Amino acid sequence: MQALNLKPMPITLPPEVEVFWANFLKTADFEKVESTIQVLSDGFTKERSQGFVDYTDTQIGQLAYGLFFFPRTWAMCRFPLNEIIQFRRWLPALDAKTPFQILDLGCGTGAASLSAAHGLRQAGLSNQIEIHAVDHSRGALKQMEALLEAGSNQHFANCSLKTEVRELLNFPPQLKQAHYHLILCSFALNELSASQREFDPVKWLANLKPSLREGGLVLVIEPALRATARQLQATADHLIHENTYHNWGPYLHDGPCPMLKGERFWNHECRRWTPPNSLELLNRKLWRSVSELKFSYTALGLNSAPAVHPSFPKGPQTCRLTSPISQKKGFLLWSGVGTDGAVHVYELQTRGMKKAEIKNLGKIERGTLLNFSALQAIGDPPRQRLPDANTLKILHQ
Ligand SMILES: C[S@@+](CC[C@H](N)C(=O)[O-])C[C@H]1O[C@@H](n2cnc3c(N)ncnc32)[C@H](O)[C@@H]1O
Repeated sequence: MQALNLKPMPITLPPEVEVFWANFLKTADFEKVESTIQVLSDGFTKERSQGFVDYTDTQIGQLAYGLFFFPRTWAMCRFPLNEIIQFRRWLPALDAKTPFQILDLGCGTGAASLSAAHGLRQAGLSNQIEIHAVDHSRGALKQMEALLEAGSNQHFANCSLKTEVRELLNFPPQLKQAHYHLILCSFALNELSASQREFDPVKWLANLKPSLREGGLVLVIEPALRATARQLQATADHLIHENTYHNWGPYLHDGPCPMLKGERFWNHECRRWTPPNSLELLNRKLWRSVSELKFSYTALGLNSAPAVHPSFPKGPQTCRLTSPISQKKGFLLWSGVGTDGAVHVYELQTRGMKKAEIKNLGKIERGTLLNFSALQAIGDPPRQRLPDANTLKILHQ
């Protein structure tokens, strides 16, 4: 393991990357960009019954994506990556001369892999980073090349990029050699599933295994929509069950998602961040809730993840928050999946607590890792009651 920088790592878009996209606005038709964002946004956020929208074949589509969706993907991919690096202590050990290899499948204009490269630098990785970016859109790959070039003296220093125009449905045909440390597939798996009835995400992700190096990881990010998030989790469960991969996230146990047993809920992240000004500007007439990022993800490793904490017992004491912390009459209520792989319901009585303290607890986001130093099982079905707010600790958010 490498020595890591454990200060909270910022996930905002570097200003120079924002400027790269915002510069195009000087010559583009602002209203046309806005209306294209509207179309894309509807296509990305509603259930995909009519298939998906393609932004890659026109320049205006790429620009709309770059200004509005690129920064969000940049951030969405960093939440899990930061957690895996900082909390789960992941980074394959490399000698100084070995480049860190990233494969980005369905890379589009490169938001996921460029963000990952930037995050790895923040975490202290000094090795050369080589990105292999694959997509069937030549135009998107060209934009990615230009973006890397523009940041090659700063954020993407010591990073190289190989782009490849390729159909991904039958990928990887010839990659049998362990090569990559990190394989990313961001908001593309659902497009593959939607485009071919026989597409099997389990087989497709299992086929990537031989191309992962020892200690390597596959990170798949998908929309938070019920159908896509549940399908992603079911796919991950299958791969973990048949021992193809081990779970590195979102859960703290190496087993199936307990939320798939019921129909009502599904696991997804809901995170706040500060969007860049250009995104806020474009959003003035669109009215999207841009300061909230909703997505689902799975992180699959060749090796099993280290124990969350050697002294934490398996059970409800440590959990991933899977609901908002909601205020009821006289208490706060939430649910989480514990290190034992079960859903637990928690309550904290608010009598004697200050309003500001209650409000602050309500701001804790879905996906946050929590630890409780004292719990009492009450009622039937059981709830875990916290004696007071001081027994709640945020482990990672
Ligand atoms: C929603 S975009 C996501 C882009 C990028 N990964 C991101 O997160 O910003 C989906 C990408 O997958 C690519 N894609 C979809 N189906 C594909 C296929 N069958 N073969 C290759 N690329 C595909 C599209 O061209 C597009 O760039």
